[in-house]
Amino acid sequence: MVNNNNWLESIADQLATQDFAITDHFLSEEEVKAIREVFEHHKEQDNFKRAGIGKQDDFMLDKQIRGDYIKWIDPANAFEPVKEFLSKINELKDYLNRTCFLGIRDYETHFTIYPPGSFYKRHLDQFQGDGARKISFICYLNDNWQPGDGGELRLYLDGEERDVQPLAGKLACFRSEIIEHEVLLAHKNRYSLTGWMLNHPVGLGFIKNT
Ligand code: OGA
Ligand code: MN
Repeated sequence: MVNNNNWLESIADQLATQDFAITDHFLSEEEVKAIREVFEHHKEQDNFKRAGIGKQDDFMLDKQIRGDYIKWIDPANAFEPVKEFLSKINELKDYLNRTCFLGIRDYETHFTIYPPGSFYKRHLDQFQGDGARKISFICYLNDNWQPGDGGELRLYLDGEERDVQPLAGKLACFRSEIIEHEVLLAHKNRYSLTGWMLNHPVGLGFIKNT
């Protein structure tokens, strides 16, 4: 990662002009490797749960819409490599508040695994009547990802689709209330950290079912 403000400025500029931002080397190879070790730890501890779609508890319906497994992160008790990631996200939050006036108060983040055969159909990251999510961010953690491996993030822009490969170290951000998107069918395990910048404090509500 560049050690000046360029990355912050670039993300703020991209968000201001196109409502999404792609940063190729948000994390270094070493940072990705260290976070992947934390994933392995949580997998061994059986800490991942099937993600839902937030509206009901209907396993079959959920499965037709999304197939990922998640574990919410409690920032206070996170392992060091995850804390370092969160501190960069915090820096981004502060910068966006200063430059884009988004009124972000906090953020929530989970570990995410899409196993082979899974996807997440086209959607917006806001539930009806809930405008809390302002910016969505996803950091990808997949070494040696090949085009045939699938799992691209597809952004639906004005009259155009943009596919983003989930390559190790890349950060994708977008305006949660504006950009519809989907995760295309993944053919091998697809790892990421996924989160949202919110217009209210998270408080103790970080442990969720979805
Ligand atoms: C989500 C989502 C996109 C991705 O979790 O809401 O759309 O690329 N993720 O993982
Ligand atoms: Mn989404």
